[in-house]
Amino acid sequence: MEAKRIAAEQAVAYIEDGMTVGLGTGSTAYWAIKKLGARVQEGLRVKAIATSQESEVLAKELGIEIITFAELSGQLDLTIDGADEVDAAFDLTKGGGGALLREKIVASASKRMIVIVDESKVVERLGAFPLPVEIVPFGWEMTLRQLENLGCKPAVRLQGEERFRTDNGNFIVDCAFGSIADPGKLSVAINGIPGVVENGLFVRMADGVIVGRMDGSVQELKQA
Ligand code: A5P
Repeated sequence: MEAKRIAAEQAVAYIEDGMTVGLGTGSTAYWAIKKLGARVQEGLRVKAIATSQESEVLAKELGIEIITFAELSGQLDLTIDGADEVDAAFDLTKGGGGALLREKIVASASKRMIVIVDESKVVERLGAFPLPVEIVPFGWEMTLRQLENLGCKPAVRLQGEERFRTDNGNFIVDCAFGSIADPGKLSVAINGIPGVVENGLFVRMADGVIVGRMDGSVQELKQA
């Protein structure tokens, strides 16, 4: 909790007056939104696009102005978001909270993306965390089999007894690959399956990674 908060707060220091900002989703992004809300209360002017309904509600409660893509000219200046895994090349696994599609749309619409994590998320190779994939409900059993053919153990995410639904009304399949040798290649292969909307591999999208450590220190990683 503390490690996530300190990483998040350091990232928010990069937000300058007048910026347009992408707001991430999850328990680490929560702290970034809280901190940004505090800075807005102090007079910072920003406009933001959130990556989930949850983050949007929180941002509005804190007085952060939320805009739509229709109101955005050009790209967002900066997106700050969490991750489930980050490797030395700054490639990421995301979607543990089920928001990966909106997160990828927002990240790809941003000039810069800063990733905020606690030290447990930093890995040598992606894949220990099952890769979340958003799929449409129609034909989901077939989509699942096709994902399995790529070499993973897929499991449809549940919420209680029901299948989990994303903000977009879709399902999430958590795909246990074990170890991912080539995230870029795998991402293309997954997205080639009809029924797949998007996968949680963020390849060459992050520009910076800020790591909060249990000992209270914060480190900005250098890209390998
Ligand atoms: C949300 O869908 C995710 O991509 C989150 O960014 C990711 O799961 C990290 O979440 P925490 O910050 O809660 O660990």
